[in-house]
Amino acid sequence: MRAITLIPGQAGSARLDEVREPPPDEGAILVDGLALGVCGTDLEIIRGEYGFTPEGAQRLVLGHESLGRVRECPADSGFSAGDLVVGIVRRPDPVPCASCARGEWDFCRNGRYTERGIKELHGFGSERWRIEPEFAVRLDAGLEDVGVLLEPTSVVAKAWEQIERIGSRAGFDARRVLVTGAGPIGLLAALLAAQRGYEVHVLDRVTEGPKPELVRRLGGTYHGGSVGDVGEVDIVIEATGVGRLVVDAIGATARNGIVCLTGVSSGERSVDLDIGGLNRTMVLENDVVFGSVNANRRHYEDAAEALARADRDWLRALISRRVPLERWQEALERRPDDVKVVVALDSSAQRPLAHSRP
Ligand code: BGC
Repeated sequence: MRAITLIPGQAGSARLDEVREPPPDEGAILVDGLALGVCGTDLEIIRGEYGFTPEGAQRLVLGHESLGRVRECPADSGFSAGDLVVGIVRRPDPVPCASCARGEWDFCRNGRYTERGIKELHGFGSERWRIEPEFAVRLDAGLEDVGVLLEPTSVVAKAWEQIERIGSRAGFDARRVLVTGAGPIGLLAALLAAQRGYEVHVLDRVTEGPKPELVRRLGGTYHGGSVGDVGEVDIVIEATGVGRLVVDAIGATARNGIVCLTGVSSGERSVDLDIGGLNRTMVLENDVVFGSVNANRRHYEDAAEALARADRDWLRALISRRVPLERWQEALERRPDDVKVVVALDSSAQRPLAHSRP
């Protein structure tokens, strides 16, 4: 079968390969891949900046944003042939640490966790893949064209869970939410904010293309300027990792403000920061700034519910392009109107996209 593989740490090594069928020890459920989402982490791995090969393997099968259809599964697996499934990315560390031991592998304490398509486990960028029933999430049959958004939605479902846990410390009457960055993570974070009834503001440097309209359709306000234009907010979800924005986001909150950082920064220019002033404000205003990564099973389930409740056309409009596996490299290009680009692992990319752009 065909798979996108690469040698972690080696830029330019990614290629469409012919590989053996996934071995049964990768999971009892055999899945026909439907779609693979591409995100910034994949681009980093392709550039040779991140990623780890499975033990004994020469190359890593790329891909962690999955969607597939069950081809074969044991009768007692809880799944049936034909089910739509998404694979959970992270596996607990072997010790396991206290967090992994209770299923909270997204909080792994010793860093020895593994991740499909990223860290020491083959990913989902192949025509067929296997998954353990306990790491498979079934999706509503109607979500076939947008279910590939489940993994990034699980990341923001976790972020929201943590925000609300922090907020619950002292009567949570937060109203205004700012999301910085209108990429897939930012827009999905805004979707979950809108579903929770918050007043949603999204800031991005792009002022044209589909993003402003996508935010408007959520009932939110789109800002193309700076964080200062938005006014005080109660919660910020920072989804760019850009140093300047991170600093501005931290300064944008009202008392008891919560800033959740979800963007992974890459080496960039340094930013001046008055750490003493920042400390003073954070102390005197009970502000919390925290980072959030990955997701556990509960977050995937929350995300599946959020997707099922969302407007299907809005979700479809997040998927800007669907490229066939043989042209996978086109999925790495960043075109001006792109939000999420997906590689079709079956032949669905040959069919026209069934959605109208907003
Ligand atoms: C994935 C997470 C993963 C993180 C770090 C992100 O792109 O969505 O599941 O934990 O990369 O590897």
